[in-house]
Amino acid sequence: MLTLKNIAVIGSSGGIGQAFVNILSRQYSNANLYPFSRTGEYQINYASEDSIAEAANIASNKGPLDLVIVANGMLHSKEIMPEKSIKELSRYKFQQLFEVNTIVPSLIAKHFLPHLNRDYPSIFAALSARVGSISDNELGGWYAYRASKAALNMIIKNAAIEMSRRNQKAIIVGLHPGTVDTDLSRPFHKNIPVEQLLTPHQSVTRLLEVLASLTADQSGKCFAWDGKEILS
Ligand SMILES: NC(=O)c1ccc[n+]([C@@H]2O[C@H](COP(=O)([O-])OP(=O)(O)OC[C@H]3O[C@@H](n4cnc5c(N)ncnc54)[C@H](OP(=O)(O)O)[C@@H]3O)[C@@H](O)[C@H]2O)c1
Repeated sequence: MLTLKNIAVIGSSGGIGQAFVNILSRQYSNANLYPFSRTGEYQINYASEDSIAEAANIASNKGPLDLVIVANGMLHSKEIMPEKSIKELSRYKFQQLFEVNTIVPSLIAKHFLPHLNRDYPSIFAALSARVGSISDNELGGWYAYRASKAALNMIIKNAAIEMSRRNQKAIIVGLHPGTVDTDLSRPFHKNIPVEQLLTPHQSVTRLLEVLASLTADQSGKCFAWDGKEILS
């Protein structure tokens, strides 16, 4: 178990974000838990940097943050399906996916990292994806999603290097949750064997075990739900 007094979960209305809130609120019932989403109790407007900064101030009001989870992400929308061919690339798709998968998590890092606990180990974990690994890419496709997650992994690495100079107890990582049964993955389930599909509860239970096992020398890396490192 982690020692947690102040926790923020951003993107808390999504399948995985909601599971983090449910499990953390049960496992750490004495902690202050701040679930931020566009629609919930603690509202955040991701298009406004002031709103992101205000969220960071609210979450750290009672003390420094011990755990920050960023569960935002987009793979498809009403207008966007992931590209199977380079012919399907468009400026609009790149802009949308980079906004949600790279820019928003980066701005959240900008405003939340200064509030991480310096006296005890603290964690900033952003949901990334195995398909953001360049060395692991065997199938191709999903251009904008893959590229936006690879870029997120670079931001995580950069932020970890910078933070190691200011807060040596901080751990900044990317997480691959597995293939999880949520709105994000649902259109792509048909080729996934049932036993490989995780519920949000199963995935987040494992991810919290992974987070509890990490040390500061692993900061900057990306880990899957089974604890294995995902190489860039
Ligand atoms: N499900 C999987 O199989 C799978 C696999 C690999 C990686 N992941 C990653 O895991 C994370 C969570 O995914 P999920 O499966 O829980 O998806 P989900 O249920 O669709 O939730 C997506 C989250 O992204 C946020 N979001 C959506 N549109 C946004 C926008 N325009 N601007 C900012 N935030 C936006 C939402 O935030 P609000 O709560 O504020 O509405 C929501 O919490 C994502 O980063 C995803 O890439 C998922």
